[in-house]
Amino acid sequence: MAEPLLVVQNLETYYGPVMALRGVSIEVNRGEIVCVLGANGAGKTTLLRTISGILDAHKGQVALAGKPVTTFAPEAIVREGIAHVPQGREVFPLMSVLDNLMLGAYTRRDRSSIMQELDVIFNYFPALVERQKQLAGTLSGGQQQMLAIARALIMRPNIMLLDEPGLGLSPKLVAEIYQIITRLNQDLGVTMLVVEQNARTALEVSSRGYVLELGRVVFDGSAAQLLDTADIQEFFLGAAQNPSATGGRWKRKKTWR
Ligand SMILES: Nc1ncnc2c1ncn2[C@@H]1O[C@H](COP(=O)(O)OP(=O)(O)O)[C@@H](O)[C@H]1O
Ligand SMILES: [Mg+2]
Repeated sequence: MAEPLLVVQNLETYYGPVMALRGVSIEVNRGEIVCVLGANGAGKTTLLRTISGILDAHKGQVALAGKPVTTFAPEAIVREGIAHVPQGREVFPLMSVLDNLMLGAYTRRDRSSIMQELDVIFNYFPALVERQKQLAGTLSGGQQQMLAIARALIMRPNIMLLDEPGLGLSPKLVAEIYQIITRLNQDLGVTMLVVEQNARTALEVSSRGYVLELGRVVFDGSAAQLLDTADIQEFFLGAAQNPSATGGRWKRKKTWR
């Protein structure tokens, strides 16, 4: 039986007077890859930043394996096993690849085993092995994304939150990144919550998906159901910009639960 690892209930987040999350509820089961799809400005980054404690929730709850972590500081949330790979990678450009990775281990006390773990991690990121001493700022976008994922992995997370990991990368690199995400999920059992604008790519590796629009979940279903829908990109994500794109076909009934 699937067991919920991450439960987000009725989350509300504000930027000053602006309400960016309007009561978001999602669940991610242990071992799953789940995606949250949404157009630019839908609230995807806000959702991940609230889960990881960078932003305060105004209302609602985040629980990991049944334990409420909503009010925890970001470092405490990392220690609970939630690792956040931020939008735009955010590696430290003037530090080496290896130093960036070691930063990921700052919450860990067992430093001796970290080097062994690096070996395991490097298996998944051969491009980083030969560039360990290179400054992170000199890596390509794809390599920086790999570094950001590797840095999150070194915390031995139960769940990884990935914010548009394919953003700004070529289709070939996007495919490569998603392949790595799938392998980490299958081999190491890391549960994945991915937020994306690129619906098809994310759904292809996910078991389920949610659609976020203007801070609300307006739809959810299995990846197969979401993929089956004609023109998903337009259907789910283009609707806000171009209402005629859906021709009124999109009725927001949650019939797929
Ligand atoms: N620092 C901020 N201050 C004020 N408003 C913000 C800030 N960051 C995001 N927003 C607003 O919150 C909404 C959600 O943004 P965001 O979570 O970044 O969306 P997404 O990641 O889906 O593109 C948008 O309307 C955006 O303009
Ligand atoms: Mg974003």
